[in-house]
Amino acid sequence: MLEFNSVENIKLTSQIFLKPEYAIHPTVSGNKIRKLKYNLDKFKKENYEGILTFGGAFSNHIAATAAAGYTLGIPTIGVIRGMEVSTKIGSNPTLSYVQKCGMKLEFISRTEYKLKTEKSYLASLESKYPNYYIIPEGGTNHLAVKGCGEILTDEDRQFAVICCAVGTGGTLSGIINSSLPHQKIIGFPALKGAFLKQDICKFAKQSNWDLCQVYHFGGYAKVDLNLIEFINRFEREFKIPLDPIYTGKMLFGVFDMMDKGMFSKSQKVLAIHTGGLQGIEGMNQKLRKNNLDLMV
Ligand SMILES: Cc1ncc(COP(=O)(O)O)c(C=O)c1O
Repeated sequence: MLEFNSVENIKLTSQIFLKPEYAIHPTVSGNKIRKLKYNLDKFKKENYEGILTFGGAFSNHIAATAAAGYTLGIPTIGVIRGMEVSTKIGSNPTLSYVQKCGMKLEFISRTEYKLKTEKSYLASLESKYPNYYIIPEGGTNHLAVKGCGEILTDEDRQFAVICCAVGTGGTLSGIINSSLPHQKIIGFPALKGAFLKQDICKFAKQSNWDLCQVYHFGGYAKVDLNLIEFINRFEREFKIPLDPIYTGKMLFGVFDMMDKGMFSKSQKVLAIHTGGLQGIEGMNQKLRKNNLDLMV
């Protein structure tokens, strides 16, 4: 099974601390190893032959699943959104990496991709790839939420507020479930949209949480100069890299909220760094094309 490194919280200011989950594994980064842990146990116990999962062309979850498969000798299949991407593997750092890890890629149209949770579509994949364990997009299912419940430790009881980036909501749900009732859990969605609350409610067992919807920077994978500048300043000051899709936006939000006095001075805040650093290269390609400043 995959070994975790243990990490200690890092003090950023007198009030804000960072849990460097990105450093718990060299290739299966941050929340991804948490999400895979119990899924890999089930995979082994039920004697599956391989893992099949879904994602976009720059997906952290696809990269982490491919890396886990490579490390553990498990065949992996990535069902990738967008037929057009199939001709760009060589210039896409995520897809080139996962192919090197041995992941087989299956490109489907964006219309077909929308069927990814439909029973009949999953049944067709099961008959095409018998005995493959199917993990949903973003890696989120009940076992993933259980794994993310292990992000917080006893030491984290001292924090009044815990902040985490949100994609599908699985990581936040795990954190909510293992938090203390008096702790406030704030999720920072990387996407625009109101559907998330319902998704989180499917998994979350407590109501001590909220979503802060103002730091998505226009939507998934959208960035602006302020964000890039913040990420670069953060890296210079703390020597900690942030990714532009999730952790950069969340930490921008945490610091902005602190500056605006939205946390009371006595409240200690813990921000979870959930990884995603493999996404930096892909984003820099996009920034370079648009003649914008790059992330360091
Ligand atoms: C680096 C990173 N942080 C946070 C998230 C959000 O996790 P979740 O999908 O469980 O909300 C993701 C992925 O989705 C991610 O890749």
